[in-house]
Amino acid sequence: MEPGLLERKIGTNFPIFYNEKTGPLKDELFSSLRKLNNGNGIRILEFGAGSGANMEYYPENTKLTVVEPNPFFKEHLESTLKKFPQVELERYLITGAEDMKDIPDHSVDAVVSTLVLCSANDLQGIYKEIRRVLVPGGKYFFMEHVIDPLSSLLKMTQVILGSFGVFQFFLDGCRPDKDIKRELEKGGFARVDAKPFRLNLKGGVPLDFALLYLIEPHIYGTATTALQ
Ligand SMILES: C[S@@+](CC[C@H](N)C(=O)[O-])C[C@H]1O[C@@H](n2cnc3c(N)ncnc32)[C@H](O)[C@@H]1O
Repeated sequence: MEPGLLERKIGTNFPIFYNEKTGPLKDELFSSLRKLNNGNGIRILEFGAGSGANMEYYPENTKLTVVEPNPFFKEHLESTLKKFPQVELERYLITGAEDMKDIPDHSVDAVVSTLVLCSANDLQGIYKEIRRVLVPGGKYFFMEHVIDPLSSLLKMTQVILGSFGVFQFFLDGCRPDKDIKRELEKGGFARVDAKPFRLNLKGGVPLDFALLYLIEPHIYGTATTALQ
């Protein structure tokens, strides 16, 4: 599979820039993930891991499974992992998160995705798979851009760009107008904690990343599976 425009950016310095812009919120999100580590290590499944933007947040003794449909990212991820020896890549599956049949039921402690669901078609299928692979009471940690919850010019622009397929065409299937929070609330989790935020783009962004203005509204948080 050839890398598209977005993938070429993800393979470069976009993740560093994005992590700076989300800064304390990613720290907050992943500090609650680190608390799941009881000292014996933690099994994390990240889907759509790209070049490994989240590796720096993972705790000591992380056993990582990556589910990624685009093999282009594998060498970028492996290169990132050299800087984070606390993370051991146990499995790298080239598939979409809606079909994780090679991952046994209830075999991971946490599932992670950041900036992935905008490009996925079958969100309910993905949530079903997340619930299947997580241990009872396990948590899915997410940070995703969403349709503007305010009735704004931005929301109208997002809907137009999404409806006419403009974003999807240029950005590898990414849609700016998905109501991911509402989908998540229908996803069969015992509990959903999704907090809204907007990217802090004050001070400007490099021209290369100007599209970030169209994906300012985000949510982050956790969804927890039932205890049995
Ligand atoms: C915008 S990149 C985000 C990469 C990384 N998570 C980050 O935060 O920088 C989107 C990623 O989602 C992956 N992806 C797209 N559709 C997917 C699906 N159905 N299941 C799993 N990953 C998917 C892409 O291949 C790509 O790695």
